[in-house]
Amino acid sequence: MTAEYKVHGDIAVITLNNPPVNGLGLATRQGIVAGLEQANADAAVKAIVLTGAGKAFSGGADIKEFGSPKALQEPNLLSVITAVENSTKPVVAALHSVAMGGGLELALGAHYRIAAPGTQIALPEVKLGLIPGAGGTQRLPRVLGVETALNMIVSGEPVKSELLASLPGQKLFDKLAASAESLADEAFALAREAAAKHADGSAFPLVRNLPCKHPLGDAYFQFARNMVKGMAKNYPAPAKCVDAVEAATQKKFADGMTFERDIFINLMWTPECRALRHLFVAERAASKIPDVPDDTPKRDIKLVGVIGAGTMGGGITMNFLNAGIPVKMLEMKQEALDRGIATIRKNYEAQVKKGKLKQDKYEQRMSLLSTTLSYDDLKDADLIIEAVFEELGVKEAVFKQLDAVAKPGAILASNTSTLDVDKIANFTQRPQDVVGMHFFSPANVMKLLEVVRGQATAKDVLATVMAIAKKIKKTAVVSGVCDGFIGNRMIEQYSRQAGFLLEEGATPAQVDKAVEKFGFAMGPFRMGDLAGNDIGWAIRKRRYTEKPDLKYSKTADLLCEMGRYGQKTGAGWYDYVPGKRDAIPSALVVEMIEKHRQELGITPRKISDEEIVQRLVFSLVNEAAHILEEGIASKAGDIDMVYLTGYGFPIYRGGPMHYADQLGLFNVAEAMKRFAQNPRDDANFWQPAPLLARLVAEGKTFN
Ligand code: NAI
Repeated sequence: MTAEYKVHGDIAVITLNNPPVNGLGLATRQGIVAGLEQANADAAVKAIVLTGAGKAFSGGADIKEFGSPKALQEPNLLSVITAVENSTKPVVAALHSVAMGGGLELALGAHYRIAAPGTQIALPEVKLGLIPGAGGTQRLPRVLGVETALNMIVSGEPVKSELLASLPGQKLFDKLAASAESLADEAFALAREAAAKHADGSAFPLVRNLPCKHPLGDAYFQFARNMVKGMAKNYPAPAKCVDAVEAATQKKFADGMTFERDIFINLMWTPECRALRHLFVAERAASKIPDVPDDTPKRDIKLVGVIGAGTMGGGITMNFLNAGIPVKMLEMKQEALDRGIATIRKNYEAQVKKGKLKQDKYEQRMSLLSTTLSYDDLKDADLIIEAVFEELGVKEAVFKQLDAVAKPGAILASNTSTLDVDKIANFTQRPQDVVGMHFFSPANVMKLLEVVRGQATAKDVLATVMAIAKKIKKTAVVSGVCDGFIGNRMIEQYSRQAGFLLEEGATPAQVDKAVEKFGFAMGPFRMGDLAGNDIGWAIRKRRYTEKPDLKYSKTADLLCEMGRYGQKTGAGWYDYVPGKRDAIPSALVVEMIEKHRQELGITPRKISDEEIVQRLVFSLVNEAAHILEEGIASKAGDIDMVYLTGYGFPIYRGGPMHYADQLGLFNVAEAMKRFAQNPRDDANFWQPAPLLARLVAEGKTFN
């Protein structure tokens, strides 16, 4: 049973019980309706309390049902809410912890509402590219006023019950309980009060009967539309929230409900909504590792050691300090430690200046940080993350020393971005305790963490690292060991394509513009200038000896030979004015590219933005298909998460794999075959990966 029914004297209690958040799936909806029928048929019952077991009143719709016939199967949520409204005994909704989305809409159908303080109240549908679809846009403005309700609906953000209860004139709550502990007793008292009040047969109060107006009428909604314009640029839902709430002020309740429903159904199948729903599911799935069960025991992480106080070490350290976990940072020299600490302080101070961090919090965080020059001081650390120079010899020395001093069971992690984690693990006598934790720069900001699973990495090490990743608010994705792991292995193909496009006739600015129009945060050349073009140069030099047959455009090497490493040298693919980050197209670079074309005997051709985007995005897709097939990534959704959280892939397109699925894999594979015909490109690379070919043949998708 996912909704329980119990009678306590003259009060019937219907308790949603569908962990983890009492999602309103079909069985739960059936349980509520059955409970209402039973209570209404029982002469001994005078009133009904509707509440939730465990950690929520209800988190809303059961997202697993989205898009499946079950979501619409009767009783659907609208019918359940109508059944609540039509109950012949008064219904009191007793909210606690979380009342969101469909859960809040359900409560708005009740005759009375009481909430525990601290209850998170929200209509977060907009975050899935939707508007509330079970009366939320029609009922919330009636109880909170148009402005408060619209703010909540457009932002999707939760607001605490005590704050809402303090708003003058609010009708959302009839009562705020004194505490979570007293909620049940107070709900019972409210139910008995209601029963007594309506013993004369008077009608129960219904939110639908409340008036809904904004004193400024049209002018207010015009203002609201302007406000959401920015956020609605790539998403249709926010503007639709305004339309639906406006309808609540203009239409009869029943007509407003139809209006809301139509919008909801139309939005459900937009590409943006599909992408956001995919993201929601993929994000939760990424934390699950197929052969590491949820109940795998985890190691205790009370102290973290970080080796190297450079660019990455400092950022990595901040993540743990922010989460209240003490860090001991080790360097070779005091000056390096001082520099590292100064950078961390500078970052925090900037946050304090902007009002994003309170001074006392800043000091509290810094008090969790200690430093050392001696490996012996790391003997108490439970997790040690190495972020020293990217050289195998240096890593070897570090891991051998760690092996000598770290306590048994300590997790030894490397932040390497290109080296073989299995080799690093074998520098120690405890390869089972070694794992890759590949943070992205700036490590205190970027959400993505690739957790690199070595051949010997123990399951409890993985489970612990996934849990700690959540604590420091990262999106962790597991990758197997390979050159570049998931993200950088794919980006290498993307960069190769960007180079070929220059040789064939495009300019850096044209390529960047096309990709940015597609929705990427930054095109490949602006990105190169930001990260430093010398990094790619070093990787290519290695490739030229490792894989001499692999084709590259030489333009990027020529750029580096000109000393144009990017923003840090004041010039890269673009020119930069000192102190500014604006990328100014460079005549010198265009000249270099043209000269290179002449040397190769290439007559430049006009390349369409469509071709640019397809070659760049499909190169990611084809490499990703190999990655999936090799088991480096365990599911396509993980690859999407890597690109959405680490590489600026447009969220509303759902990641490269989801995007390819939506285009149709047949079309994607056909385009690849076309690109393979281009003599300037790499015909081998464009052979659709076997997995992709198989999915096309079977009419299947990645996700
Ligand atoms: P960095 O050069 O800024 O910092 C490295 C620090 O390690 C220096 O402060 C150096 O003094 C210290 N160090 C070197 N050898 C040491 C040793 N034996 N013991 C103690 N400290 C030592 O380098 P960065 O950029 O922070 O990179 C560090 C690691 O992170 C590398 O493995 C790199 O591949 C990886 N990485 C870098 C990213 C980036 O964008 N910079 C992104 C992801 C990973």
